[in-house]
Amino acid sequence: MKIEPVIKGQVAKTCHPIGCQKAVEDQIAYVRKAKQIKEGPKKVLVLGSSSGFGLASRISLAFGGARADTIGVAFERGPSETGVGTAGWYNSIYFREAAEKEGLIAKNFIGDAFSPAMRQGVVDYIKTEFGGSVDLVVYSLATGIRPDPQTGERIRSSLKTIGEPLTGYTVNLEEDRLQESVLDAATEQEVADTVRVMGGEDWAEWIEFLSGEGVLAHGCQTVAYSYIGSEITHKIYHEGTLGRAKVHLHGTADVLDAKLKEIGGQAHVAVCKALVTKASVFIPAFSPYILALFRVMKELGLHEGCIEQMQRLFADRLYNGEELVPVDEQRLIRIDDWELRDDVQEKVQVILKELDQNNFQSVSDYEGYKKDFLALNGFGLDGVDYEKEVYVDDLSIKMP
Ligand code: NAI
Repeated sequence: MKIEPVIKGQVAKTCHPIGCQKAVEDQIAYVRKAKQIKEGPKKVLVLGSSSGFGLASRISLAFGGARADTIGVAFERGPSETGVGTAGWYNSIYFREAAEKEGLIAKNFIGDAFSPAMRQGVVDYIKTEFGGSVDLVVYSLATGIRPDPQTGERIRSSLKTIGEPLTGYTVNLEEDRLQESVLDAATEQEVADTVRVMGGEDWAEWIEFLSGEGVLAHGCQTVAYSYIGSEITHKIYHEGTLGRAKVHLHGTADVLDAKLKEIGGQAHVAVCKALVTKASVFIPAFSPYILALFRVMKELGLHEGCIEQMQRLFADRLYNGEELVPVDEQRLIRIDDWELRDDVQEKVQVILKELDQNNFQSVSDYEGYKKDFLALNGFGLDGVDYEKEVYVDDLSIKMP
């Protein structure tokens, strides 16, 4: 069958497997030529490995100088009667194929990272087939829902403000328009639930479990990803429910750092740049900022995607051959440094003053935003023949 992009609201309902393969290959090609990781990890567990920053981390660590064997955990759907499946499913297949060609181990676990069975499965694999330990754990899950580890009850996160509600524009990718959206103020319960879903609790549980099972190597590091952003987005993000969850994540890094010190290791949070990912397109009222930011950063030659960010994180910061990892006064690794440059933010402000529902396509980088969104799902990539039939049955047998 031929596969066309189908978008409903902010969700892509189809993906193109061969396009996903091309996107993975393009990222591999980028990290091969980029500044290389020095003395990097050799055995890596990536939680949330199938798209966005997690996939980029995995690619960077395998092909960007470290030649790491990787285990990836992700929640994805394969092909069925109802559809072709999700992009992350194919990203995981094609990453594994490329890594194996290179002589690297790339094991995919597809399922719920919050479940005890998944944790046990990963540990058993590390013990029996992965050399017994890992020397880096990347935590890159993004989800709106998590089961309570005690009761099994589902906890949901909320994308809301804290205090006053706020109105702003959100991109409707299906109709190529900006629609007004209201971010309601969260209740205390919603704040607490968002912290439980997107804060550091699950990261800490993973590290505790891996440590208890004795599968963290001496000197093991762990890193999770965060966003802070500038004044412009603080009310939406940093001072909202998500920001509260991230503050919890930052605190968790310090707790885990103290724990990992016992085995000569470290825990960090890397604060990343705002980018188009499956998760970020859902944040209400955030899109005008990204649209303006993309335009400015591209004009200034500073734009990065997930892969550029992750390669810079590992090559320049975490594994740069130096004794110390460069961090700010809160011990955070800042790879959002270019986004937050004064000249960038000033230019973004100017665009945002002008931007409205009628002119957003011309004053901002909507084209680039939409292109990135389509590319996340394997569409619009150079060198892919989208007219060619895709035989999904042949592809699905290659999992996990
Ligand atoms: P994404 O949606 O591209 O990737 C999320 C990953 O988590 C996928 O691999 C997905 O399969 C996996 N996942 C979700 N639920 C799961 C579950 N229950 N079990 C197993 N795997 C599961 O998201 P993105 O944007 O790469 O986010 C990763 C982290 O980066 C998040 O902590 C996010 O807050 C952070 N971040 C994102 C920024 C952005 O602009 N996109 C900016 C700065 C930080």
